[in-house]
Amino acid sequence: MSDQGSTRFSEELEPSLVRAILPPQAQQQYAQGKVSKEFLAPFAESLLHLSKAYVQCEAWRSISRREAQAYALYYLQVNLPKFVRLIRELPSSLRSQPLRVLDYGCGPGTGSMALLSQALQIQSLTAFDRLRPMLDVFTDIVHALACDMRPQYTQDESTALAGIYDLILCGNVFCELEIAKKMSCFHQLCQRLSPGGALVILEPALQETADALVRMRDAFVGEPGEYAVIFPCTHHNPCPLLSSNRGPAWCHATLSWEAPQLVRQLDELTGFGKHRLKYSALIVQRGAIPVGGSRVITEPERTKRGVECMACSASGYERLIIPKKSAPRHLASFDLAPSLPDVPSI
Ligand SMILES: C[S@@+](CC[C@H](N)C(=O)[O-])C[C@H]1O[C@@H](n2cnc3c(N)ncnc32)[C@H](O)[C@@H]1O
Repeated sequence: MSDQGSTRFSEELEPSLVRAILPPQAQQQYAQGKVSKEFLAPFAESLLHLSKAYVQCEAWRSISRREAQAYALYYLQVNLPKFVRLIRELPSSLRSQPLRVLDYGCGPGTGSMALLSQALQIQSLTAFDRLRPMLDVFTDIVHALACDMRPQYTQDESTALAGIYDLILCGNVFCELEIAKKMSCFHQLCQRLSPGGALVILEPALQETADALVRMRDAFVGEPGEYAVIFPCTHHNPCPLLSSNRGPAWCHATLSWEAPQLVRQLDELTGFGKHRLKYSALIVQRGAIPVGGSRVITEPERTKRGVECMACSASGYERLIIPKKSAPRHLASFDLAPSLPDVPSI
C-alpha cells in the first residue's frame, strides 16, 4: 500500500478505537477535540499498571476488560507503526498473495491491523491469545472498523498451532515467555510456516529483551534447517554484538512518528512520552537465504565526512561512513546500507 493509503488507515484507526471503547459523551468530545480527563484517567491508571508489568517482563496472568481497552487505545497505536515497518520487509511474494495468517498473542489485534493498513490480502486469520478480554476488545475494534477481516478467535494454543500459515505475527509475546518456553515456541511457530512463509517477531527495545532475542537467533541459525533469518540480520554468522563482549546485545531501532491525539493525551496523563518508537525484531522465512549486505544498526548521523553509523554484515559490526555524494536522503536504523563498492568501513 502507498504511504498515503497507510496514513489514511492510521487516521481512521483512532476514531474506530474511540467508537469501540469510549462512551458516547467521550466520543462527542473526541469529535470536537480533546477527550476530558474524567474519561481518560481510568485508562491512564490501567496503562501505568500494565506498563509496570511490561517493563518487568512479567506475564499478565489475567487482565480486566478496562486494561485490555487501555492497551488498545495506547499500545495498539504505538506498536502498529513498528509492525508496519516489519511488514514492509516481507518478500514481495508474500505481500502480493492471499495469506493464511496467525496472529500469535494477538492482544487487541495490533499485528492484524497493521496488515489491514498495508492492504495485504488476508485469506484467513487465526487470532490467538490466552486472555479473553484481549480477544473481546479485538472483536469490538473489528466491528467499529467495519472492515471485511473475519478473524477466528481462539484461546486454545493447540487449535492455533494446528494450522499451516504463510505469515505468523508474534508481537511482544516472547518477552512474556519464560526462557525454556521461548525456544520451544520459536521452533513450534517455524514448523507451522508454509514453504516461503514468514514469522515476524516484534519485541520491546529493552536491553534485556533485545539480548534474549539475539541469543535465540544465534541458537537458531546454529542449527541446520531450511529457515533463514532475513531481518534485521543479513547473514547467518554468530551475532557480532554477542561475540564482542560489549554487554547486552542491544540490537534495536528507532522510528519517528506523529503520535495520534489520544496517545498524546494519555502520554500527558501517564508521563510516558512516545515521541520516538523503539523496537527490536526478527523475521524468519522458510526456504529463504540470508539477504546479504549491511544493515544500519545505530541512528545515522550527518557529519563532515557524510553519513556515519554502526552497521552489521557478515564481516562484523563496524562503523560505516557513507560519503555525502552517495548518502541516501533518508536512512534510518534497520535500513539496508547502500551497497557501494567504495563505502569505507573502519
Ligand atoms: C504485550 S501483549 C501484545 C499484543 C500484540 N501482539 C501487540 O504487539 O501489541 C502480549 C500478548 O501476548 C499474550 N500472550 C503471552 N503469552 C502467551 C501465550 N503463552 N499464549 C498466548 N498468548 C500469550 C498476552 O495474553 C498478551 O495479550
